[in-house]
Amino acid sequence: MPPKVYVPAYPAGDFRAMPALGGGHALLKWVTSYPGNPAAGLPTVMGVVLVSDASNGVLRAVLDAGAVTALRTGAAAVLAAETLGRRDAATAAVIGAGVNGQAAARTFLARGRDVMLWDVDEQRAAQAAEELGARVAASEEEALAADLLVTVTPGREIVLGAGSLQPGQHASLMGADGPGKAEIAVEELRRVRVFCDDWEQASHNGDLVHAVEAGALSRDDVTELGAVLAGDAAGRADDSEATVFDSTGLAIQDLAIALAALERVDELELPEITL
Ligand SMILES: NC(=O)c1ccc[n+]([C@@H]2O[C@H](COP(=O)([O-])OP(=O)(O)OC[C@H]3O[C@@H](n4cnc5c(N)ncnc54)[C@H](O)[C@@H]3O)[C@@H](O)[C@H]2O)c1
Repeated sequence: MPPKVYVPAYPAGDFRAMPALGGGHALLKWVTSYPGNPAAGLPTVMGVVLVSDASNGVLRAVLDAGAVTALRTGAAAVLAAETLGRRDAATAAVIGAGVNGQAAARTFLARGRDVMLWDVDEQRAAQAAEELGARVAASEEEALAADLLVTVTPGREIVLGAGSLQPGQHASLMGADGPGKAEIAVEELRRVRVFCDDWEQASHNGDLVHAVEAGALSRDDVTELGAVLAGDAAGRADDSEATVFDSTGLAIQDLAIALAALERVDELELPEITL
């Protein structure tokens, strides 16, 4: 999986080209992040996913990038929280109840956990909570105090300031996935145990880049989640450690979702297309 390529169209947003090879297939996701779009009734994240047979290059499927992204982002946020959070973690919250925040909430619920939502747009949080069967946090403070926290905001403002994470808390930072974005302060990254999805991507875009540029973090300070899952690196050291997972989003996650969809194509209600 080569690192994703960003094609900036700022200040409106950016495009990403995300290729990956695996499971006998090659994938390319062409996808946006246009944070101002919801105000105009358009999604922040949209595009297409192309899946080809790696043995002969034949194109096998074209999928909706918004749907694939939401499924894998929700899954990655919760997988990181369950892997790195305390075993006795009781409460879960999602900050930012947009498309991908709702996907994280849906994944928590599918895992049998109650989840609180918080959003600066109270109406959006209330609507999402009702649709999902979740509840709106009484305050931002209540949401921020959850044992397992997921942030999925546009990354224009810091959500986790210096000293905000409590001992034993875990936060999956999903929103800041591109240049100039951050959901956590550099001082806070210096204070907690840091994990990421892919160092090459995460150290160049999103939350970690600010800490890397400030000399506060280097490669040795950050563990990839995949290394923990594969048993090659240790996760949380003890119940008093605060942990964060920084996600920029991986094409191999999209590939896993796309291949799962292909495997179950007979169960999907697809319209007939005549070429
Ligand atoms: N890491 C990844 O793999 C990944 C995947 C998909 C999307 N993203 C990123 O996640 C972000 C959100 O994507 P989306 O599709 O859910 O967008 P969205 O526009 O549907 O939702 C964003 C939500 O955040 C809310 N919000 C804004 N500022 C907030 C704050 N300070 N506190 C609480 N809520 C706040 C907005 O009101 C909105 O409801 C984008 O920056 C996107 O690029 C990352």
